[in-house]
Amino acid sequence: MGGCGFLLIGTNLLFLLSTISLAVDSIGPSQSIRNGTTLVSNDGSFELGFFSPGSSRNSYLGIWIKNVPVRAVVWVANRCKPINDSSGTLMLDITGNLVLFGQNKSVVWSTSIVKHAQSATVQLLDSGNLVVRDVKDGNSGAYLWQSFDYPSDTLLPGMKLGWDLRTGLKRRLSAWKNAEDPCPGNVTYGIEMELEAYPQAFIRNGTARFYRSSLWNNLTFCGAPEKPSSRFAFNFVYTDDEVYYTYKHKVQIISRIVLNQTIGKCARYYWDDIDPHWGEFSSRPREQCDQYHLCGANGKCTFDNNQVCQCLKGFRPKSQGKGNLIDWSLGCVRNKPLSCQEKDKDGFLNFTSLKLPDTTHSWVNRSMNLDECRAKCLGNCSCTAYTSSDMSGGTGCAIWFGDLLDIRELVTAGPDLYVRLSASELAFGTSSGNHEEGNDGKWKTPLIVVVAITVALSGILLVGYIRRRRKNLRGKTELGEGDQSNEVEGKENLELPLFNWNEIASATENFSTENKLGEGGFGPVYRGTLPDGQEIAVKRLSRSSGQGLDEFMNEVVLIAKLQHRNLVKLLGGCIHGEEKMLIYEYMPNGSLDSSIFDRTREELLIDWPKRFHIICGIARGLLYLHQDSRLRIIHRDLKASNVLLDNEMNPKISDFGLARILVGGDQAGGNTNRVVGTYGYMAPEYAVDGQFSVKSDVFSFGILVLEIISGTKNKGFYNKNSHNLIGHAWRLWNEGRPLEVIDTGLRNSLSLSEMLRCVHVSLLCVQHEPEDRPSMASVVIMLGSDGALAQPKQPGFFIENESYEAGLSSNNQTSSTNEVSITHLEAR
Ligand SMILES: *[C@@H]1O[C@H](CO)[C@@H](O)[C@H](O)[C@H]1NC(C)=O
Ligand SMILES: *[C@@H]1O[C@H](CO)[C@@H](O)[C@H](O)[C@H]1NC(C)=O
Ligand SMILES: *[C@@H]1O[C@H](CO)[C@@H](O)[C@H](O)[C@H]1NC(C)=O
Ligand SMILES: *[C@@H]1O[C@H](CO)[C@@H](O)[C@H](O)[C@H]1NC(C)=O
Ligand SMILES: *[C@@H]1O[C@H](CO)[C@@H](O)[C@H](O)[C@H]1NC(C)=O
Ligand SMILES: *[C@@H]1O[C@H](CO)[C@@H](O)[C@H](O)[C@H]1NC(C)=O
Ligand SMILES: *[C@@H]1O[C@H](CO)[C@@H](O)[C@H](O)[C@H]1NC(C)=O
Ligand SMILES: *[C@@H]1O[C@H](CO)[C@@H](O)[C@H](O)[C@H]1NC(C)=O
Ligand SMILES: *[C@@H]1O[C@H](CO)[C@@H](O)[C@H](O)[C@H]1NC(C)=O
Ligand SMILES: *[C@@H]1O[C@H](CO)[C@@H](O)[C@H](O)[C@H]1NC(C)=O
Repeated sequence: MGGCGFLLIGTNLLFLLSTISLAVDSIGPSQSIRNGTTLVSNDGSFELGFFSPGSSRNSYLGIWIKNVPVRAVVWVANRCKPINDSSGTLMLDITGNLVLFGQNKSVVWSTSIVKHAQSATVQLLDSGNLVVRDVKDGNSGAYLWQSFDYPSDTLLPGMKLGWDLRTGLKRRLSAWKNAEDPCPGNVTYGIEMELEAYPQAFIRNGTARFYRSSLWNNLTFCGAPEKPSSRFAFNFVYTDDEVYYTYKHKVQIISRIVLNQTIGKCARYYWDDIDPHWGEFSSRPREQCDQYHLCGANGKCTFDNNQVCQCLKGFRPKSQGKGNLIDWSLGCVRNKPLSCQEKDKDGFLNFTSLKLPDTTHSWVNRSMNLDECRAKCLGNCSCTAYTSSDMSGGTGCAIWFGDLLDIRELVTAGPDLYVRLSASELAFGTSSGNHEEGNDGKWKTPLIVVVAITVALSGILLVGYIRRRRKNLRGKTELGEGDQSNEVEGKENLELPLFNWNEIASATENFSTENKLGEGGFGPVYRGTLPDGQEIAVKRLSRSSGQGLDEFMNEVVLIAKLQHRNLVKLLGGCIHGEEKMLIYEYMPNGSLDSSIFDRTREELLIDWPKRFHIICGIARGLLYLHQDSRLRIIHRDLKASNVLLDNEMNPKISDFGLARILVGGDQAGGNTNRVVGTYGYMAPEYAVDGQFSVKSDVFSFGILVLEIISGTKNKGFYNKNSHNLIGHAWRLWNEGRPLEVIDTGLRNSLSLSEMLRCVHVSLLCVQHEPEDRPSMASVVIMLGSDGALAQPKQPGFFIENESYEAGLSSNNQTSSTNEVSITHLEAR
């Protein structure tokens, strides 16, 4: 236990020695840093120790630049948890984690390294990076933890500002609240990226966007275009794995980039040796045009002092006023509408010195060339502009949708931006300075010809357009409500085939063991083949139902009426003496659990698009059970093994009527003394009090989604910090590392925001209080849209594990039930 380790070391001789030794850059497990001792990097440029900012008497553990007389703190460990006396002690514990103890040996701050090191060491590198590494890794550069991954308000050379898409780690700056309080204020600076969109960086004040940097300009600092510098080299890296900005020194110089809340700026400072002080090299935002979205949609901020805001060519102010009376917040609208569906009626205007528009609503393909890019834009009615996604102007494609936001003029040439305009606008336009681009250069030919051709073609094109449009709409509603009509069986007088016993017995070869598919909570399931070749699955219900024949048949008829493409189809029933059976269609791809939890194969059996398709299908099936069918069915035992996959990997919920058949009665919600379900999936109120409702199904759905995303079972999950998958997900979520929930094999994908959304939705579904959980109707909408989602509250069955010691010791919530459903009767 950590506590024991601490006591031992408190009396350790080594510790006493370390207090008198000078200028060491690293310590091992039996040493510590206290007020008065520090670590100094090998070349003497950085120092780690305790400090008190300004006139504050609070003590913080931090790293500062050493060899300058004006201390510049570059990193702080316990940013919001000051120690108010000199009791602070930093040490490595036996698991290789760095722990900062305060008064009474309370843990003030610690790292959370999952991989335990045999023998760890902590070192302050010459770069200012504090690293923990396994001694056996030597100087290989492999770190268990590094302070560069958790920046404070300062970016040093070699640090990355950005997003590691493989791990989900976001490295961004957050300003100190004020000069005496290093706790993060509400001003932040970081790279942001929407699904498939081009990344960009924002300084935000709280949630408000304050300054945007377009990352196209390779030479950026705080995102601002900067002249090639003899002192600094900059780099912006954008791959499938990582998106980040970094810089380094070309000459011997001391510099840092700092985000400061008080002045609301990101600034680069350098140490001036001649006139000893921190000089400001440059800063952003700096001028009026830096203010985010100053001139409204399709407007641009200019160097023209008389009229700072102007419309892009082809647009006019939306506001009615003139001159100074124009309300620029309303932005600009087109002079001539786009024709869009009529081919060859739109063209592009080439702008060469603009800061590229906000890319929140953009799309990128890094291998398309400019011609393909243009075609891509023309092919989508919402596309309003395109450019090459490669800063040097070669390959790659980025296109914008909708209004163009936050544009300003640049002094130097920027990337070429091609803005879509109506052909007539281009033809009659009196462009000055801007280069006009025709469609294959033909815009200069008399417009009438084009119009005539277009009119002649428009009938044909229109039909095609409407077709495409319908198709698109159908695609769109995949998650919408519109699909029920296709799914619900229209026939009212459904005849339920009653199979005869001999037929079933021979189809399953007398229920032979070879034909047994598995054993569910309600009894064994067999595979069979009917004489006509149809494959079936036969579920023999355990005899304990105590239900009469008529009741059973009534239920079977009701359930057979439940038809939805995401429910396994019930073909009929069979009664043989006391025994009752249900006959289902056979699902060739088995159950979901065998596909998502199979770790024996190298490759993922199901990629992300399929998994998302499966998640959406399950959601629709459950929604149908809950509210769209004629009955209201609560499944009560939704889990991976109850989701079957057809030959196209469409998910089908099975066992959905069984709870009803066995229990009967009003299923809208209630209390039962017969808890059917599976540990690991049951909502707390159901498992503990037998209370079930649609919301207990929502809970199980949430677990299932987490399992599908992570490829891990909720039950049986274990790591140092969490007892189960929910706890793990919840912890990562709160630490801002939700990407780590995702199966490593899936992370390297373009659908990160879809995955993150699923993590978010799943956490909403597993919230502890049933009333906090969304309905399946809301879940379906959330999955299919990209609107803001509520912050999830504490999940059910999550055992908070704040205490550091507890994290190392206990394992108290592992229930020892087996994998199959439990169906137990509780005495009440
Ligand atoms: C330091 O903080 C503790 C609680 O955090 C408090 O009990 C104590 O009085 C404080 N000491 C001083 C000197 O402010
Ligand atoms: C370190 O200890 C000295 C002497 O006890 C004290 O004056 C100083 O405030 C302490 N510094 C911190 C950061 O705790
Ligand atoms: C620290 O321990 C002492 C002695 O046990 C106790 O008097 C004091 O209240 C404790 N302080 C805090 C902040 O818990
Ligand atoms: C922010 O800038 C102000 C004004 O330059 C300065 O006084 C203050 O110390 C800075 N804050 C931090 C946390 O460095
Ligand atoms: C930012 O923090 C300051 C002081 O902590 C507060 O006054 C201000 O309202 C906050 N602004 C936002 C946008 O949250
Ligand atoms: C951030 O927003 C708050 C509240 O709107 C405002 O008081 C503060 O001045 C803003 N900070 C900056 C740096 O603009
Ligand atoms: C856009 O303008 C730039 C600068 O004049 C030029 O280099 C580029 O070729 C133009 N693009 C097209 C497609 O005309
Ligand atoms: C990107 O463009 C390339 C080349 O045109 C194409 O092969 C690829 O499928 C595109 N990728 C996406 C995600 O559209
Ligand atoms: C056009 O782009 C939007 C935004 O990405 C997309 O939703 C839509 O499906 C696209 N339409 C076509 C026809 O590709
Ligand atoms: C951006 O900068 C890096 C490093 O200085 C360089 O390797 C790269 O070629 C630059 N990219 C462009 C497009 O100029």
